[in-house]
Amino acid sequence: MINYLTLKLMEIIKKYVEGNKNRFIMELFELLRIPSISADKKYKNDVLKTANLVKAHLDKIGIQNTELCETQGYPIVYGEKIIDKSLPTVLIYGHYDVQPPDPLELWSSNPFEPEIRNEKIYARGACDDKGQFFMHLKAVELMLKNNILSCNVKFMIEGEEEVGSENLEPFVKNNKEKLKADVILISDTGIISNETPSITTGLRGLSYLEVEVTGPNRDLHSGLYGGSVANPINILTKMIASLHDEKNRITIPNFYEDVEIISKDERKEMAKAPFNIENYKKELNIDDVHGEEGYSTMERNSIRPTLDVNGIWGGYIGEGAKTVIASKAFAKISMRLVPNQKSEKITKLFSDHFNKIAPKCVKVKVTPHHGGEAYVSPTDSIGYNAAKLAMKDTFGKTPIPVRTGGSIPIVALFEKELGLKSILMGFGLDSDAIHSPDEHYGVFNFLKGIETIPLFFKYFKELKN
Ligand code: BES
Ligand code: MN
Ligand code: MN
Repeated sequence: MINYLTLKLMEIIKKYVEGNKNRFIMELFELLRIPSISADKKYKNDVLKTANLVKAHLDKIGIQNTELCETQGYPIVYGEKIIDKSLPTVLIYGHYDVQPPDPLELWSSNPFEPEIRNEKIYARGACDDKGQFFMHLKAVELMLKNNILSCNVKFMIEGEEEVGSENLEPFVKNNKEKLKADVILISDTGIISNETPSITTGLRGLSYLEVEVTGPNRDLHSGLYGGSVANPINILTKMIASLHDEKNRITIPNFYEDVEIISKDERKEMAKAPFNIENYKKELNIDDVHGEEGYSTMERNSIRPTLDVNGIWGGYIGEGAKTVIASKAFAKISMRLVPNQKSEKITKLFSDHFNKIAPKCVKVKVTPHHGGEAYVSPTDSIGYNAAKLAMKDTFGKTPIPVRTGGSIPIVALFEKELGLKSILMGFGLDSDAIHSPDEHYGVFNFLKGIETIPLFFKYFKELKN
C-alpha cells in the first residue's frame, strides 16, 4: 500500500513529467547531437561543448555554484543546491562522454542524429550515459519547480569515464570537502527488464592492457622466409589461446588467488533472478553459450573474472592478398575482475606471465592502460532502501539486487576516498546496445527514471531521520 502523501507526491511528479516530456526529450536530443567521444582527440571541441551545455542546463534549472572544474583532461561539471545544511546531501555522478560509434555502417541511423523508433531513442550515448544522467537533471528540475526537493543535491558529471576516469581520481582526492555528501546516486547501469526492476549491487573491476609481439626487424616475403622465421601473428595468437585451459579457466599463475568465494546460499539467491537461457541464445543468435566450467551463465558474467581480447591486428588486411610475414602483431586485452582482486596486481601477473611464455624468437611488450577495482554494495543501507522503496512505487514491484559484469572503476575510488557508498540505480536494459551500433534508450525508461529519482530523495530523507 502506498500512503496518501506518497500518492499525492506521485501525482505531482506524473503531472509534471506528462506536461514536459516532449521538451525533456528535445533537450536530450540536443545533448545527443554533440559527438562527445573522449577516446578520439579529433572530438575535443565537441567534448568541451558538451561540458558547457551540461553546465548551462544546471544553471537553467536553478543549481548554484556551477563550474567547469578543469583537469589535465576534460573538465568535470560541478554544481550544487544546498537548501538546508541540516538536510542530507545526495551527490549525483554521471558521464557526458560517449564511446566511439564505429562501425558506422552497422547503424540504421546517424549515431549523432537522434531519432525515435518504436518508442526508443536511437543515438550514441542515448543510454550510456547521456540519457541516464540527464534524467537526474530533469528530476531535480521537477523537484525545484514543484518545491518538493527534500535533500541537498550536488552534481559531478565527468567527461572521461569511457577512457578510464584518470583525471577524476586527483579531483576526488583534492575536493573532499566540496564533494561531501551522505550518498552517491548513479544511473549508469540497468534493470533486468521493464517488468522486473533491479538495483545493481556489484560492479566488476578491470585491468586493460595492450601487447606487442615483434619478430624480425621488418616485414618479410613469406615465401623466402616463411618456415624459418617466427611469424609474430602466429605466435601471438598461440600465446593468447594458451591463456585459457580446456575448462575455460584463465591459466595465468595466481590469477584466482584473491577471488572472493561466494557461498552456496548466495549463489542460490542469485539464481532466483529471472533468466531464460533460450531467449538469451536467441537474442544473440548463438547456438550455445560458453564459459568457465562449473558456473552458470549469469555467474560467469558477474561474479567470475574473465580475460578477453578486445582487438587484434597486424600484417596485411587490405584488399586481395599479400604474401608477407609481418614484423609485429598487436592485441588489446582486458580482464574483468571481482571483489578482492587488485587491478595492479593482476596487470603485473599478466605481464610477467606473458613475458615468460613468449618464445625466444620474438620480443614482447606489455603496456598497461587503465584499470579499476570491483565494487559491492550492501542491500541494507539507507541508500539501498531508499532506491528500493522508490522503484517499488514506480514499477509496482520490489527491485531485485543484481551484480553486473560491467565496470565503473571510479565507484570503488569514491568509497575509498570519500567513504561513501554509491547506489547504482540505473534504468537501461542489456538489450540497449550500449557501446554497439544502434545504441538506444527506451522513452519508458527515460521517463521512469525521472519519476523514480524524486521518490529516492523523499525516502532517503525520511530514512535518514
Ligand atoms: N555504464 C558503463 C558500465 C556499465 C554498463 C555497467 C551497464 C553495468 C551495466 C560504463 O560507461 C562503461 O562502459 N564502463 C567501461 C569501463 C571503462 C573503464 C571504459 C566498461 O565496463 O567497459
Ligand atoms: Mn556509462
Ligand atoms: Mn560505457
